[in-house]
Amino acid sequence: MAAIAPTPVIKVAALCGSLRKGSYNSGLLRAAIELSKSINGLEMEYVDISPLPFLNTDLEVNGTYPLVVEAFRQKILAADSILFASPEYNYSITGPLKNAIDWASRPPNLWADKTAAIVSAGGGFGGGRSHYHLRQIGVYIDLHFINKPEFFLNAFQPPAKFDSDGELIDDATKEKLKAVLLSLYAFTLRLQGKS
Ligand SMILES: Cc1cc2nc3c(=O)[nH]c(=O)nc-3n(C[C@H](O)[C@H](O)[C@H](O)COP(=O)(O)O)c2cc1C
Repeated sequence: MAAIAPTPVIKVAALCGSLRKGSYNSGLLRAAIELSKSINGLEMEYVDISPLPFLNTDLEVNGTYPLVVEAFRQKILAADSILFASPEYNYSITGPLKNAIDWASRPPNLWADKTAAIVSAGGGFGGGRSHYHLRQIGVYIDLHFINKPEFFLNAFQPPAKFDSDGELIDDATKEKLKAVLLSLYAFTLRLQGKS
């Protein structure tokens, strides 16, 4: 009898571009982490970008990085894939998120050959314009984004999507979020030649 192949494990680092305590985008990531528990083989970890200093190459001494930067870089190195929760600030990604991306792009660039997906919440377009700047950055750092499904959430349109603690409470939105995770998992397996 043929042995059943084990389910390949994909490690996802979840990064949020908002540092705000009540952030809707971090609420999306908490919901995604919860949903990932129902997807066999998908392991997701929240990676905090708030301790990172502003990028300054003077902080790099003989090719080494400050301890908090090194700890962050190790988390990215260990991940197969990245889930960005990317709010829109002035039609682009946020300063803190760009700063984190820049730190892990320093030699050796740790984003290369990983897969990624973007989710966002906000008003109007639901943070959508930040996606296209993030995808553009991905070209240079060799990060491979899923194309579909795209996920933009207008957090202010009724019915309420989040409770007063910033937790995602809308079932239809959870389903859309799960579809992103499934797409990211399948795409990562394809890129790694495991599907
Ligand atoms: C500096 C700044 C710029 C912003 N620019 C935009 C923008 O260009 N388009 C938009 O739809 N929302 C904009 N917003 C609103 C945020 O995207 C919105 O408040 C979002 O909920 C923030 O994400 P968070 O809830 O995860 O903190 C801006 C907010 C800030 C603080």
